[in-house]
Amino acid sequence: MEIQKIRSLKGELAVPGDKSISHRAVMFGSLAEGTTRITHFLKGADCLSTISCFQKMGISIETKEDEVFVHGKGLHGLSAPSEVLDVGNSGTTTRLIAGILAGQKFSSVLNGDASIQSRPMNRIITPLSQMGADIKSQKENGCAPLLIQGQPLRALHYTSPVASAQVKSCILLAGMYADGITRVTEPVLSRNHTEIMLNYLGAHVTADGTTSSIEPEPSLQARDILVPGDISSAAYFIAAGLLVPNSEILLKNVGINPTRSGMLKVCRDMGADITLLNECQEGEPTADLLIRSSSLHGTIIEGEIIPSLIDELPILAVMAAFANGTTIIRNAQELRVKESDRIQVMCENLALMGADIQETEDGMIIHGGPSLHGACIHPRLDHRVAMSFAVAGLICEGTLSILDGECVNISYPDFYRDLYSLKER
Ligand code: S3P
Repeated sequence: MEIQKIRSLKGELAVPGDKSISHRAVMFGSLAEGTTRITHFLKGADCLSTISCFQKMGISIETKEDEVFVHGKGLHGLSAPSEVLDVGNSGTTTRLIAGILAGQKFSSVLNGDASIQSRPMNRIITPLSQMGADIKSQKENGCAPLLIQGQPLRALHYTSPVASAQVKSCILLAGMYADGITRVTEPVLSRNHTEIMLNYLGAHVTADGTTSSIEPEPSLQARDILVPGDISSAAYFIAAGLLVPNSEILLKNVGINPTRSGMLKVCRDMGADITLLNECQEGEPTADLLIRSSSLHGTIIEGEIIPSLIDELPILAVMAAFANGTTIIRNAQELRVKESDRIQVMCENLALMGADIQETEDGMIIHGGPSLHGACIHPRLDHRVAMSFAVAGLICEGTLSILDGECVNISYPDFYRDLYSLKER
């Protein structure tokens, strides 16, 4: 993929459906009684992996244009898969499904691509084992493939060492099959889409500060689910609209759940001109985002805000490289265990473009300046890294090429088309 500098970006865009919410809609719809209609579902490779896993467990799922119909069979309606459940590149699929599989009456195997096979799974193996689950890393290296023999589960109050919605959701989902109320306490609140959607379908999940609790054996009932636009996909257009001169972009119907929208605050701290229009606070809150070119300055990104912008840190690093002054990112060690080691991969590739950037154990220090040049970027098959550099390519001098640029299919198959649709002619 080759990207050139452009003069301005103008227009309106509806970004694809939220990835986290699309996964959950298929999973919880499969465990509900009746047919769940999901509108604005994200047809990225990760969410298609989730669909295929549930189809292998006997759930009929039809995909139409922008809609998906899940014919749920209730909490105990899954059947034993006759083959390995292939999660592809998706950590969310792996960790959330593991929580569901732990309490089934059958055994199963979860496996995925090379990236998945190197991501840490002890963070779910430990709490699930404490609930009485029989879950093993086949190679005994704490990674997938995971072998799960379903068991009766005990309720648990788990204090998680990481603020991770995947860990929290895994335990809450296992808690649906446990013998009492299951609780998870996190160091900082992570995204709460699981709690919101399970309650919407009839479960009893309560939140008290950073503790979420679920009652066992909920009777989930199918309901229509409208997936908001993904703020993590909107992030690339927010950055592009701010950085490319003379730009004005309207991003329609973007999810702005406070556990996800830390990027908006950081952008404003950097001097961004972002206006929220048509705010809607029902269920998952949404708004239209009006983005205008802005002169950005450096900032410090650390502490409690990190989980609410964890997936946006790669694009925030790009913004920082073009901003005036220094940006420091701290407490973001979780970035090292995403689809790639995002601290290393961002630092390595931004340095190739001439950025003054220093890698630290839990983040990076970026001395911004406008004079970056094109380079040949290796995103290590990480979709968010590829999209972040596509934005960098719109502003730097010379041509920027991205190796394996099609890896954006994981979360945003039409990314390049949408980006160029905003190019002023
Ligand atoms: C996700 C949670 C986050 C995020 C990932 C999606 C989810 O991961 O990075 O892209 O849908 O629950 P962690 O929970 O591991 O931080």
